[in-house]
Amino acid sequence: MHPMLNIAVRAARSAGNVIVRAFEQQDKVEVEAKGLNDFVTNVDKLAEQAIIDTIKKAYPSHSIIGEESGVHDGEDQDYQWIIDPLDGTTNFVKGIPHFAVSIALKVKGKLDQAVVFDPIRGELFTASRGKGAQLNGFRIRVNQAKELNGAVLATGFPFKQKHHIDSYLAMFKDLFAKTADMRRAGSASLDLAYVAAGRVDGFFEFGLKPWDTAAGELLVIEAGGLVTDLTGGHNHTKSGNTVAASARLLKTILTDIRPHLTESLKK
Ligand code: IPD
Ligand code: CA
Ligand code: CA
Repeated sequence: MHPMLNIAVRAARSAGNVIVRAFEQQDKVEVEAKGLNDFVTNVDKLAEQAIIDTIKKAYPSHSIIGEESGVHDGEDQDYQWIIDPLDGTTNFVKGIPHFAVSIALKVKGKLDQAVVFDPIRGELFTASRGKGAQLNGFRIRVNQAKELNGAVLATGFPFKQKHHIDSYLAMFKDLFAKTADMRRAGSASLDLAYVAAGRVDGFFEFGLKPWDTAAGELLVIEAGGLVTDLTGGHNHTKSGNTVAASARLLKTILTDIRPHLTESLKK
């Protein structure tokens, strides 16, 4: 295993321990609203600290962006870690056991290492640039579905951007009419990991943040899939408007999305 992936795994497991212990003692969880329908708990913050401590100990000069604590500039800007300590906080708060720790490393702006860890199921999704993607050490691959018929798509609702509700529902309607079914499980990093593992055939969501998608994107690419914005371009890293699937299925998904794009969703 690449030494930096090894550190990412150590960091994810240590955050996972913090999260699982707290999940078993829900009465000690303190919830705070940080925006519209957007929550943070003391557990998100503790888990993020555990990750940062592990990375800083091994690589004190690297830069880090954490969802909860922001940018930690290091001397070495070529190495940038992108962390979501608890992806699926709403599930966590409601006692739904579906959430993950997401850690990615970019080297000179390119995704290089990725970990998405589901601490409840003990499922560790990993990828290293050019080396494929694994689940608990076993190779995973994107399902090379060619059509929506029979496909299951994962998605996330635009609950923080309700002004997009009409466009979203129009896309959902067209896609749902053709697919076998849809899933809204509540953790974008796991949605992408499930695309990588072939558990779902594709994924789409608006307005995600870099920490939601960075690790999942490398997992999908290394598992033989593609990640784009809603127009098939590469602005998803900025806009957060994200589609992921096999190349063939992604093209089909984009065809159904296109008629419902507003100007702001084309970015
Ligand atoms: C959220 C989850 C959710 C997605 C949201 C994200 P958080 O992350 O990934 O599935 O729909 O857009 O913000 O806030 O739980 O880290
Ligand atoms: Ca997240
Ligand atoms: Ca989070």
